Amino acid sequence: MRLSRFFLPVLKQTPSEAQIVSHRLMLRAGMLRQEAAGIYAWLPLGHRVLRKVEQIVREEMDKAGAIELLMPTLQLADLWRESGRYEAYGAEMLRITDRHERELLYGPTNEEMISEIFRAYVHSYKELPKNLYHIQWKFRDEQRPRFGVMRGREFLMKDAYSFDIDEAAGRRSYDRMFVAYLRLFARMGLRAIPMKAETGPIGGELSHEFIVLAQTGESAVFLDRRMLDLPIPGDDVDYAADLTPVIEAWTGPYAATEDVHDEARYERETPEAERLTARGIEVGQVFFFGDKYSKPMKAVVTGADGAEHPAQMGSYGVGVSRLVGAIIEASHDEAGIIWPDTVAPFGVGIVNLRAGDSACDAACETAYDALTRAGREPLLDDTYERPGAKFASMDLIGLPWQLIIGPRGLAEGVVELKRRADGDRQTLPLGEALSLLGAAP
Ligand SMILES: Nc1ncnc2c1ncn2[C@@H]1O[C@H](COP(=O)(O)OP(=O)(O)OP(=O)(O)O)[C@@H](O)[C@H]1O
Ligand SMILES: [Mg+2]
Repeated sequence: MRLSRFFLPVLKQTPSEAQIVSHRLMLRAGMLRQEAAGIYAWLPLGHRVLRKVEQIVREEMDKAGAIELLMPTLQLADLWRESGRYEAYGAEMLRITDRHERELLYGPTNEEMISEIFRAYVHSYKELPKNLYHIQWKFRDEQRPRFGVMRGREFLMKDAYSFDIDEAAGRRSYDRMFVAYLRLFARMGLRAIPMKAETGPIGGELSHEFIVLAQTGESAVFLDRRMLDLPIPGDDVDYAADLTPVIEAWTGPYAATEDVHDEARYERETPEAERLTARGIEVGQVFFFGDKYSKPMKAVVTGADGAEHPAQMGSYGVGVSRLVGAIIEASHDEAGIIWPDTVAPFGVGIVNLRAGDSACDAACETAYDALTRAGREPLLDDTYERPGAKFASMDLIGLPWQLIIGPRGLAEGVVELKRRADGDRQTLPLGEALSLLGAAP
């Protein structure tokens, strides 16, 4: 992408309404525009990151055996009356009436709808297990939308739903999602700690929240700090195998949010030197709730015994749009965002220090072509801004690498390659810089 043709409205001033760093940086970096309280337009730079986060979530869901579909944002109120949640959900639900006076709602979650789909097609235990997911916008009319995408009213969520014949199989589905969550957050450069959690309006007894530690997190958390060093299951994880050892390693040490914190147990189980009190951001939550929806909604299958059994269900949410903010909270400095490579909106920023100079332009084009061919998604700053402003914008938008090309260097046959994360700089011939970036010149 050439910056001259892109749409990147960076702001020089810090917007006063933003209280936390990720919100400030997303507004300044031209990623996001508020259209109403808690409702945002994702500008092109932000949209590229959102898509990358979404894709990592999708890949890890697919690997764990979940199957993608897409359900609508609008749902019939009658469906929610079947589970009894239409009245219970309260003011957070956005209720809508269509021209035929039919009651609809903008879905805050999808347990009812997926149960309706399941019961229409699946009738035998032989078709189980099944895990269906989608990545779709949700609406919750939060009392206090704030912190930008962290607590929006409209937000993008991945939600998966598992169906099994009995509780033991249901727990194995839960374990697979648990492991997939450890992996997907790690792939975005985050260490998300699973913590025992309350189940809230979703229901059930077994639940974990996945929490990223950050000073700006909304809830206080208490954990055994050794959890920060536990190994993440690798690429070769076998979802068909028994995952109990992984689950035990990750649920053994004490970790809880303030809602369920038990100080006496914490002190009993965690040596004082290992106790860590911090704040955290909830980026995902997994639930096992058995027949809470399948029973009232008659999502039943015939078992091997010939009898009908309500499916044993779980649901598994990831806050895709919240994650973009959480990643920034975890990775930034005074100059701006520092994207982990896996979610960066572009892989390399090429800075042309003197656009219009034929040698600079030619070298930038060579770099741009080579990096594009190598799949490194370069962003070429080919504008006529002064160098200082270009450097500031590049640091602000936080691409992992900056390739700086100017007339003085070129006269000596060199360019500069800067790593955004640590500011490390090398001066070297363009060909070598491109090789380092994995692009043949
Ligand atoms: N208002 C919101 N804005 C952005 N993301 C959200 C919001 N509410 C929930 N999420 C994300 O969706 C995921 C799954 O939804 P879940 O029903 O568990 O949310 P929740 O527990 O109500 O969230 P919270 O406690 O933060 O209100 C959450 O883990 C979170 O990452
Ligand atoms: Mg939750």
